Amino acid sequence: MATNLLKGKRGIIFGALNEESIAWKTALMAHEEGAEFVLSNAPIALRMGKIKELGEACNAEVIAADATSVEDLENLFNKASEILGGKIDFVLHSIGMSPNVRKGKTYGDLNYDWFHKTLDISAMSFHKVLQTAEKLDVMNEWGSIVALSYIAAQRSFSHYADMADAKALLESVARGYGARFAAKKVRVNTISQSPTVTTAGQGITGFDDFFNFADQLSPLGNAPSEECAKYILSLFSDYTRYVTMQNLMHDGGFSTCGITEEMMETLAKARQK
Ligand SMILES: NC(=O)c1ccc[n+]([C@@H]2O[C@H](COP(=O)([O-])OP(=O)(O)OC[C@H]3O[C@@H](n4cnc5c(N)ncnc54)[C@H](O)[C@@H]3O)[C@@H](O)[C@H]2O)c1
Repeated sequence: MATNLLKGKRGIIFGALNEESIAWKTALMAHEEGAEFVLSNAPIALRMGKIKELGEACNAEVIAADATSVEDLENLFNKASEILGGKIDFVLHSIGMSPNVRKGKTYGDLNYDWFHKTLDISAMSFHKVLQTAEKLDVMNEWGSIVALSYIAAQRSFSHYADMADAKALLESVARGYGARFAAKKVRVNTISQSPTVTTAGQGITGFDDFFNFADQLSPLGNAPSEECAKYILSLFSDYTRYVTMQNLMHDGGFSTCGITEEMMETLAKARQK
Protein backbone atom coordinates (compact mmCIF):
# COMPACT_ATOMS: atom_id res chain seq x y z
CA MET A 1 0.00 0.00 0.00
CA ALA A 2 1.60 3.23 -1.16
CA THR A 3 1.94 6.09 1.33
CA ASN A 4 3.60 8.78 -0.80
CA LEU A 5 6.84 8.12 1.08
CA LEU A 6 8.92 9.72 -1.69
CA LYS A 7 6.55 12.46 -2.81
CA GLY A 8 8.49 15.46 -4.09
CA LYS A 9 11.75 13.52 -4.40
CA ARG A 10 13.74 13.34 -7.63
CA GLY A 11 16.18 10.60 -8.48
CA ILE A 12 18.22 8.51 -10.86
CA ILE A 13 17.90 4.72 -10.97
CA PHE A 14 20.68 2.76 -12.66
CA GLY A 15 20.52 -0.90 -13.63
CA ALA A 16 16.97 -1.94 -14.60
CA LEU A 17 17.44 -4.55 -17.33
CA ASN A 18 14.29 -6.67 -17.09
CA GLU A 19 11.43 -7.44 -14.69
CA GLU A 20 13.75 -9.51 -12.48
CA SER A 21 16.22 -6.68 -11.88
CA ILE A 22 16.32 -5.26 -8.36
CA ALA A 23 16.39 -1.80 -9.96
CA TRP A 24 13.23 -2.60 -11.95
CA LYS A 25 11.27 -3.46 -8.81
CA THR A 26 12.68 -0.40 -7.05
CA ALA A 27 11.61 1.87 -9.92
CA LEU A 28 8.03 0.56 -9.90
CA MET A 29 7.78 0.99 -6.14
CA ALA A 30 9.43 4.43 -6.13
CA HIS A 31 6.89 5.54 -8.76
CA GLU A 32 4.03 4.22 -6.61
CA GLU A 33 5.49 6.17 -3.67
CA GLY A 34 5.36 9.44 -5.58
CA ALA A 35 9.00 9.85 -6.67
CA GLU A 36 10.00 11.27 -10.03
CA PHE A 37 13.13 9.88 -11.59
CA VAL A 38 15.20 9.16 -14.67
CA LEU A 39 16.19 5.60 -15.57
CA SER A 40 19.64 4.81 -16.87
CA ASN A 41 21.52 1.81 -18.16
CA ALA A 42 24.42 1.02 -20.49
CA PRO A 43 23.70 1.68 -24.19
CA ILE A 44 23.77 -2.07 -24.97
CA ALA A 45 21.20 -2.75 -22.23
CA LEU A 46 18.93 -0.13 -23.77
CA ARG A 47 19.13 -2.00 -27.07
CA MET A 48 18.73 -5.51 -25.63
CA GLY A 49 16.62 -4.95 -22.51
CA LYS A 50 13.10 -3.77 -21.86
CA ILE A 51 13.84 -0.57 -19.97
CA LYS A 52 11.69 1.55 -22.30
CA GLU A 53 8.61 -0.40 -21.13
CA LEU A 54 9.55 0.41 -17.56
CA GLY A 55 10.01 4.08 -18.50
CA GLU A 56 6.46 4.17 -19.84
CA ALA A 57 5.07 2.46 -16.72
CA CYS A 58 6.84 4.95 -14.43
CA ASN A 59 6.48 8.03 -16.60
CA ALA A 60 10.29 8.23 -16.53
CA GLU A 61 12.73 9.21 -19.24
CA VAL A 62 15.48 6.76 -20.09
CA ILE A 63 19.01 8.09 -20.63
CA ALA A 64 21.84 5.86 -21.79
CA ALA A 65 25.05 5.99 -19.76
CA ASP A 66 27.93 3.58 -19.51
CA ALA A 67 28.63 3.93 -15.80
CA THR A 68 32.37 3.55 -16.45
CA SER A 69 32.37 6.74 -18.56
CA VAL A 70 32.61 10.02 -16.66
CA GLU A 71 31.48 11.86 -19.79
CA ASP A 72 28.29 9.76 -19.97
CA LEU A 73 27.67 10.32 -16.27
CA GLU A 74 28.10 14.10 -16.58
CA ASN A 75 25.63 14.13 -19.44
CA LEU A 76 23.20 11.98 -17.43
CA PHE A 77 23.32 14.11 -14.26
CA ASN A 78 22.96 17.37 -16.22
CA LYS A 79 20.05 16.06 -18.29
CA ALA A 80 18.35 14.42 -15.31
CA SER A 81 18.29 17.63 -13.25
CA GLU A 82 17.03 19.52 -16.30
CA ILE A 83 14.23 16.99 -16.96
CA LEU A 84 13.27 16.66 -13.30
CA GLY A 85 13.41 20.41 -12.74
CA GLY A 86 15.90 20.61 -9.87
CA LYS A 87 18.56 18.91 -7.83
CA ILE A 88 18.60 15.14 -7.20
CA ASP A 89 17.46 13.55 -3.93
CA PHE A 90 18.36 9.92 -4.53
CA VAL A 91 20.52 7.68 -6.70
CA LEU A 92 20.44 3.89 -6.94
CA HIS A 93 23.59 2.21 -8.28
CA SER A 94 22.36 -1.30 -9.13
CA ILE A 95 25.19 -2.24 -11.46
CA GLY A 96 27.40 -5.30 -11.56
CA MET A 97 29.16 -7.44 -14.14
CA SER A 98 32.25 -9.64 -14.20
CA PRO A 99 33.44 -11.06 -17.52
CA ASN A 100 35.45 -13.62 -15.50
CA VAL A 101 32.35 -14.84 -13.66
CA ARG A 102 30.34 -14.85 -16.89
CA LYS A 103 32.95 -17.01 -18.60
CA GLY A 104 33.28 -19.35 -15.61
CA LYS A 105 36.89 -18.35 -14.80
CA THR A 106 37.99 -19.48 -11.36
CA TYR A 107 39.78 -17.22 -8.85
CA GLY A 108 43.08 -18.93 -9.69
CA ASP A 109 42.71 -18.43 -13.42
CA LEU A 110 41.49 -14.84 -13.82
CA ASN A 111 41.92 -12.92 -17.02
CA TYR A 112 43.41 -9.60 -15.81
CA ASP A 113 41.92 -7.43 -18.55
CA TRP A 114 38.54 -8.75 -17.48
CA PHE A 115 39.44 -8.25 -13.83
CA HIS A 116 39.98 -4.55 -14.63
CA LYS A 117 36.56 -4.48 -16.29
CA THR A 118 34.92 -6.14 -13.29
CA LEU A 119 36.37 -3.54 -10.94
CA ASP A 120 35.56 -0.65 -13.24
CA ILE A 121 31.95 -1.67 -13.95
CA SER A 122 31.03 -3.04 -10.53
CA ALA A 123 32.91 -0.77 -8.11
CA MET A 124 34.85 2.13 -9.59
CA SER A 125 31.69 3.20 -11.42
CA PHE A 126 30.22 3.91 -7.97
CA HIS A 127 33.08 6.30 -7.23
CA LYS A 128 32.56 7.88 -10.66
CA VAL A 129 28.84 8.37 -9.94
CA LEU A 130 29.62 9.97 -6.56
CA GLN A 131 32.46 12.17 -7.78
CA THR A 132 30.49 13.36 -10.80
CA ALA A 133 27.47 14.16 -8.63
CA GLU A 134 29.62 16.12 -6.21
CA LYS A 135 31.58 18.04 -8.86
CA LEU A 136 28.41 19.03 -10.70
CA ASP A 137 26.78 19.90 -7.36
CA VAL A 138 23.57 18.15 -8.35
CA MET A 139 22.65 16.55 -5.01
CA ASN A 140 20.11 18.11 -2.68
CA GLU A 141 20.76 18.37 1.07
CA TRP A 142 19.67 15.17 2.81
CA GLY A 143 20.05 13.28 -0.44
CA SER A 144 20.73 9.54 -0.38
CA ILE A 145 22.91 7.36 -2.62
CA VAL A 146 22.71 3.57 -2.41
CA ALA A 147 24.62 0.76 -4.13
CA LEU A 148 24.01 -2.98 -3.94
CA SER A 149 26.57 -5.36 -2.50
CA TYR A 150 26.94 -9.00 -1.52
CA ILE A 151 28.41 -10.78 1.52
CA ALA A 152 31.27 -12.15 -0.60
CA ALA A 153 32.90 -8.80 0.28
CA GLN A 154 33.45 -10.17 3.83
CA ARG A 155 33.49 -13.95 3.40
CA SER A 156 34.87 -16.16 0.66
CA PHE A 157 32.39 -17.62 -1.82
CA SER A 158 34.49 -19.47 -4.37
CA HIS A 159 32.22 -19.08 -7.39
CA TYR A 160 31.95 -15.32 -6.95
CA ALA A 161 35.60 -14.97 -8.11
CA ASP A 162 36.66 -11.34 -8.77
CA MET A 163 33.19 -9.98 -7.98
CA ALA A 164 34.07 -10.49 -4.31
CA ASP A 165 36.96 -8.04 -4.68
CA ALA A 166 34.72 -5.63 -6.57
CA LYS A 167 32.14 -5.72 -3.77
CA ALA A 168 34.83 -5.12 -1.13
CA LEU A 169 35.94 -2.04 -3.08
CA LEU A 170 32.34 -0.91 -3.56
CA GLU A 171 31.71 -1.00 0.20
CA SER A 172 34.94 0.85 0.87
CA VAL A 173 33.93 3.58 -1.60
CA ALA A 174 30.63 4.00 0.27
CA ARG A 175 32.57 4.67 3.49
CA GLY A 176 35.16 6.93 1.88
CA TYR A 177 32.70 9.00 -0.11
CA GLY A 178 30.08 8.95 2.63
CA ALA A 179 32.53 10.78 4.90
CA ARG A 180 33.19 13.34 2.19
CA PHE A 181 29.58 13.88 1.08
CA ALA A 182 28.41 14.33 4.68
CA ALA A 183 29.66 17.92 4.39
CA LYS A 184 26.77 18.43 1.94
CA LYS A 185 24.40 16.34 4.08
CA VAL A 186 24.33 13.56 1.50
CA ARG A 187 24.40 9.98 2.78
CA VAL A 188 26.04 7.04 1.05
CA ASN A 189 25.37 3.38 1.87
CA THR A 190 25.51 -0.11 0.43
CA ILE A 191 22.90 -2.81 0.95
CA SER A 192 24.22 -6.36 1.09
CA GLN A 193 21.42 -8.38 -0.49
CA SER A 194 20.67 -12.13 -0.35
CA PRO A 195 21.22 -14.18 -3.51
CA THR A 196 18.42 -13.13 -5.86
CA VAL A 197 17.17 -14.67 -9.09
CA THR A 198 18.16 -12.05 -11.71
CA THR A 199 20.27 -11.96 -14.87
CA ALA A 200 23.38 -10.96 -12.87
CA GLY A 201 22.68 -13.56 -10.16
CA GLN A 202 22.09 -16.44 -12.54
CA GLY A 203 25.33 -15.68 -14.39
CA ILE A 204 27.22 -17.21 -11.44
CA THR A 205 28.24 -20.89 -11.65
CA GLY A 206 26.34 -22.98 -9.11
CA PHE A 207 23.92 -20.11 -8.40
CA ASP A 208 20.95 -22.44 -7.66
CA ASP A 209 22.96 -24.39 -5.10
CA PHE A 210 24.16 -21.40 -3.18
CA PHE A 211 20.76 -19.74 -3.46
CA ASN A 212 19.25 -22.81 -1.73
CA PHE A 213 22.10 -23.03 0.79
CA ALA A 214 21.67 -19.35 1.78
CA ASP A 215 17.92 -19.82 1.97
CA GLN A 216 18.33 -22.69 4.44
CA LEU A 217 20.93 -20.83 6.46
CA SER A 218 18.85 -17.65 6.80
CA PRO A 219 16.33 -17.84 9.65
CA LEU A 220 13.93 -15.65 7.65
CA GLY A 221 14.91 -17.19 4.31
CA ASN A 222 16.54 -15.28 1.45
CA ALA A 223 15.27 -11.72 1.15
CA PRO A 224 13.21 -11.39 -2.05
CA SER A 225 13.96 -8.56 -4.49
CA GLU A 226 10.63 -6.80 -3.74
CA GLU A 227 11.70 -6.54 -0.10
CA CYS A 228 15.09 -5.22 -1.17
CA ALA A 229 13.27 -2.54 -3.16
CA LYS A 230 11.32 -1.55 -0.04
CA TYR A 231 14.53 -1.33 1.99
CA ILE A 232 16.10 0.86 -0.69
CA LEU A 233 13.09 3.19 -0.59
CA SER A 234 13.42 3.48 3.19
CA LEU A 235 16.99 4.69 2.65
CA PHE A 236 15.78 7.25 0.11
CA SER A 237 13.12 8.49 2.53
CA ASP A 238 13.50 11.13 5.23
CA TYR A 239 13.28 8.47 7.94
CA THR A 240 16.93 7.44 7.57
CA ARG A 241 18.73 10.80 7.39
CA TYR A 242 21.53 9.89 9.77
CA VAL A 243 22.32 6.47 8.30
CA THR A 244 25.52 6.82 6.30
CA MET A 245 28.79 5.02 5.46
CA GLN A 246 27.15 1.68 6.27
CA ASN A 247 27.01 -1.70 4.65
CA LEU A 248 23.51 -2.80 5.61
CA MET A 249 22.70 -6.50 5.64
CA HIS A 250 19.43 -7.39 3.92
CA ASP A 251 19.75 -11.13 4.08
CA GLY A 252 17.12 -12.74 6.33
CA GLY A 253 19.72 -13.12 9.10
CA PHE A 254 22.24 -15.14 7.03
CA SER A 255 25.28 -13.07 8.02
CA THR A 256 24.89 -13.66 11.76
CA CYS A 257 23.46 -17.16 11.81
CA GLY A 258 25.50 -20.23 12.81
CA ILE A 259 23.04 -22.92 11.78
CA THR A 260 19.26 -23.24 11.39
CA GLU A 261 16.89 -26.10 12.24
CA GLU A 262 16.22 -26.44 8.53
CA MET A 263 19.90 -26.93 7.79
CA MET A 264 20.22 -29.44 10.65
CA GLU A 265 17.37 -31.46 9.13
CA THR A 266 18.97 -31.37 5.68
CA LEU A 267 22.28 -32.58 7.11
CA ALA A 268 20.54 -35.35 9.11
CA LYS A 269 18.70 -36.54 5.99
CA ALA A 270 21.94 -36.57 3.98
CA ARG A 271 23.62 -38.66 6.72
CA GLN A 272 20.78 -41.22 6.69
CA LYS A 273 21.06 -41.76 2.90
N1 LIG B 1 21.23 -11.12 -7.91
C1 LIG B 1 21.90 -11.35 -6.80
O1 LIG B 1 21.99 -12.49 -6.32
C2 LIG B 1 22.54 -10.19 -6.09
C3 LIG B 1 22.88 -10.32 -4.72
C4 LIG B 1 23.51 -9.25 -4.08
C5 LIG B 1 23.78 -8.10 -4.80
N2 LIG B 1 23.45 -8.01 -6.11
C6 LIG B 1 23.80 -6.78 -6.83
O2 LIG B 1 22.62 -6.11 -7.22
C7 LIG B 1 22.94 -5.24 -8.32
C8 LIG B 1 21.88 -5.40 -9.39
O3 LIG B 1 21.93 -6.67 -9.98
P1 LIG B 1 20.65 -7.54 -10.32
O4 LIG B 1 20.78 -8.78 -9.51
O5 LIG B 1 19.41 -6.73 -10.25
O6 LIG B 1 20.94 -8.01 -11.82
P2 LIG B 1 20.71 -7.30 -13.24
O7 LIG B 1 21.50 -8.12 -14.20
O8 LIG B 1 19.26 -7.14 -13.52
O9 LIG B 1 21.37 -5.84 -13.06
C9 LIG B 1 22.73 -5.55 -13.34
C10 LIG B 1 22.71 -4.29 -14.16
O10 LIG B 1 24.02 -3.76 -14.38
C11 LIG B 1 23.96 -3.09 -15.65
N3 LIG B 1 25.29 -2.79 -16.16
C12 LIG B 1 26.28 -3.66 -16.50
N4 LIG B 1 27.33 -3.00 -17.01
C13 LIG B 1 27.02 -1.65 -16.97
C14 LIG B 1 27.69 -0.47 -17.34
N5 LIG B 1 28.92 -0.49 -17.86
N6 LIG B 1 27.05 0.72 -17.17
C15 LIG B 1 25.81 0.78 -16.65
N7 LIG B 1 25.11 -0.32 -16.28
C16 LIG B 1 25.71 -1.52 -16.44
C17 LIG B 1 23.22 -4.13 -16.50
O11 LIG B 1 22.80 -3.63 -17.75
C18 LIG B 1 22.10 -4.51 -15.57
O12 LIG B 1 20.97 -3.66 -15.76
C19 LIG B 1 24.37 -5.62 -8.75
O13 LIG B 1 25.28 -4.72 -8.15
C20 LIG B 1 24.52 -6.99 -8.15
O14 LIG B 1 25.88 -7.35 -7.95
C21 LIG B 1 22.81 -9.01 -6.75
